[in-house]
Amino acid sequence: MDITKQPFGQTDAMKWLDLYKLTNLNGMEVRLTNYGATLVAVTVADRNGNLEDVILGYDSLADYINGSNYFGCIAGRYANRIAGGRFKLNEVPYHLAQNDGGNHLHGGVQGFGKAVWQARELENDDSLGLELTYLSQDGEEGYPGNLSVTVIYTLTNRNELRIDYSATTDKQTMVNLTNHAYFNLAGSGDIFDHELMINADRFTPVDSSLIPTGELRSVKDTPLDFTQPMAIGARIDQDNEQLLIAKGYDHNWVLNKDADGPCLAARAFERNSGRTLEVYTTQPGIQFYSGNFMENGIAGKAGQVYHHRGGFCLETQHFPDSPNQPNFPSTILDPGAIYEHTTIYRFSTAGGPPV
Ligand code: GLA
Repeated sequence: MDITKQPFGQTDAMKWLDLYKLTNLNGMEVRLTNYGATLVAVTVADRNGNLEDVILGYDSLADYINGSNYFGCIAGRYANRIAGGRFKLNEVPYHLAQNDGGNHLHGGVQGFGKAVWQARELENDDSLGLELTYLSQDGEEGYPGNLSVTVIYTLTNRNELRIDYSATTDKQTMVNLTNHAYFNLAGSGDIFDHELMINADRFTPVDSSLIPTGELRSVKDTPLDFTQPMAIGARIDQDNEQLLIAKGYDHNWVLNKDADGPCLAARAFERNSGRTLEVYTTQPGIQFYSGNFMENGIAGKAGQVYHHRGGFCLETQHFPDSPNQPNFPSTILDPGAIYEHTTIYRFSTAGGPPV
């Protein structure tokens, strides 16, 4: 196993950023930068041993700085949407940036995905890791409390990429952290033939601005039912109110939980390569986003152009707009308490040769 570091470039504020490469004994590679605590590449074998990068991103730091797709970054302080950019804590109103129509999205204009994090390399017997820390100041993007955040990415020899999140605050605040990687297990092309299973009987339907109505609705008899593996493209353009609002899939599923630790949340399978991705998490929800806003073609890594629905996100998280939804699990973090969550992306190959 091996971990290397090279310069990735400089921000306008003259801060130097690095690109780290973690390689496990199977040749699986993970590239990370301390800009936005971003996952830059995940290179895994197909069923014939051919290595390919299965996440979307850019070649240069400048593109990460200017990009607006949240490729691979850590979204926070509050990942996903907060209605009107407003919430109250103990009757005190807080106002956040309205950077998504009238709503707040992914922590605001300078969310955690645009921050410079401190990195520390970690080497264990059977794994390699990168610890990234960030101090989000009291008042940053309108949030109360100095929030000290740690994200540890670990690559194991079982082809798992594990992300451990933790945070503490000195004032009561809201926290919801996720990784915003876009996957394409074929390495290129669209995602329609990926077969997806989401371990959820319910989802949180949204209004016309993608804010949950508060209802936990059954997926049964809807195109959002992924309890059995289904091709992503099979029903994506159906005449369904929820799909029309989001222009495809961009919803939070309420995960079925059968244990306290990380539970299986989703499994994606790409038949041509045989690549399989399993997602395990301690979080109560997962946002499945099918790249609906990638309409214009995005110049990505190694000369690739990413087209509409050229990648999908499986963002493990608390439910969107929880600060304003009394019936959703709470996203309040108190001083003295520790926010802790874990998500594991496990890669393997399965299935016979394509037909
Ligand atoms: C999330 C949101 C989407 C979109 C993407 C980024 O997944 O739910 O609506 O904003 O981020 O483009």
